[in-house]
Amino acid sequence: MNITLNNNEEIPALGLGTWRARQDDVYKAVLKALDVGYRHVDTAVVYGNEEEVGRGISDSSVARDEVFLTTKLWNTMHTKEDAAGQIDECLARLRTDYLDLVLIHWPGSYERNAAVWSAMEAAVDAGKIKSIGVSNFNIHHIHALAENARIQPAVNQMECHISLQNTRLQEYLDSKGMVLEAYAPFKSDRIKDVLDNRTLKEIGSAYGKTPTQIVLRWLLQRGVVPLPKSVTPSRIEENLQVFDFALTDDDMLAIRKLNKGERTFPEPDNVDFGFVHL
Ligand SMILES: NC(=O)c1ccc[n+]([C@@H]2O[C@H](COP(=O)([O-])OP(=O)(O)OC[C@H]3O[C@@H](n4cnc5c(N)ncnc54)[C@H](OP(=O)(O)O)[C@@H]3O)[C@@H](O)[C@H]2O)c1
Repeated sequence: MNITLNNNEEIPALGLGTWRARQDDVYKAVLKALDVGYRHVDTAVVYGNEEEVGRGISDSSVARDEVFLTTKLWNTMHTKEDAAGQIDECLARLRTDYLDLVLIHWPGSYERNAAVWSAMEAAVDAGKIKSIGVSNFNIHHIHALAENARIQPAVNQMECHISLQNTRLQEYLDSKGMVLEAYAPFKSDRIKDVLDNRTLKEIGSAYGKTPTQIVLRWLLQRGVVPLPKSVTPSRIEENLQVFDFALTDDDMLAIRKLNKGERTFPEPDNVDFGFVHL
């Protein structure tokens, strides 16, 4: 299943997350994921695993142009020149001559975001990137960026799970033609909250599905692109078995009621890691 972005490119509706998946683990996870049918992989410069991800894609039996590959520019990029250099390094590490999607990983000052964005636009013009977007951008960051952007952002990748559902942000993104990608769909280190959740267990038992599969299905039905991370072969498979059933409106509402506005990750307006001169 694919979703069409605002530039008419297609993004597979679910992708493999790779944060904290290192070296041989991530190489094998990418091979396994592509083998069982994933066509979308999410990495970032700061994950330190682009080389292994690139090796996994090139060693797989799936052609490069069938895989949707995302990376993210790190916070230490402040100027157009820095960002342009990092894009070229990503291409080399990922063993590819184009990237499907490149994101600004975290917002900095409006001026810095615009400078990095201009490098990303130039890389689109040069055929190095197909789509560009942002991550951890609150509405005001997107508004400021979009005002002066030549190419509008295609996605915003945000923390999004049962406890932080981001429905109002999604409404804003919809109005801008942007897709919401869900990072930490299982609450990352707090996955126990998902596995032990009574509502998810009850809904899952009606379909013969696990709580994690219910979460992924709920995100898909919202039109959100989940990026579940796993380096465990059985879980990599399990996380893709979510296209053979549908949740009812009542199920969706029951999950909606689990929202607590509770974060696992920092609030983007109040974090400055990686920024050397704010
Ligand atoms: N843009 C950003 O700032 C940002 C921030 C965080 C994450 N991300 C992206 O989003 C992806 C997902 O987020 P995340 O990695 O933080 O957390 P997550 O996907 O919510 O959870 C990952 C954890 O769940 C476990 N797991 C996966 N599938 C499972 C299953 N079916 N049953 C039981 N346990 C399962 C994994 O273990 P095993 O691996 O051991 O199987 C791992 O411990 C990242 O990998 C990254 O690509 C982006």
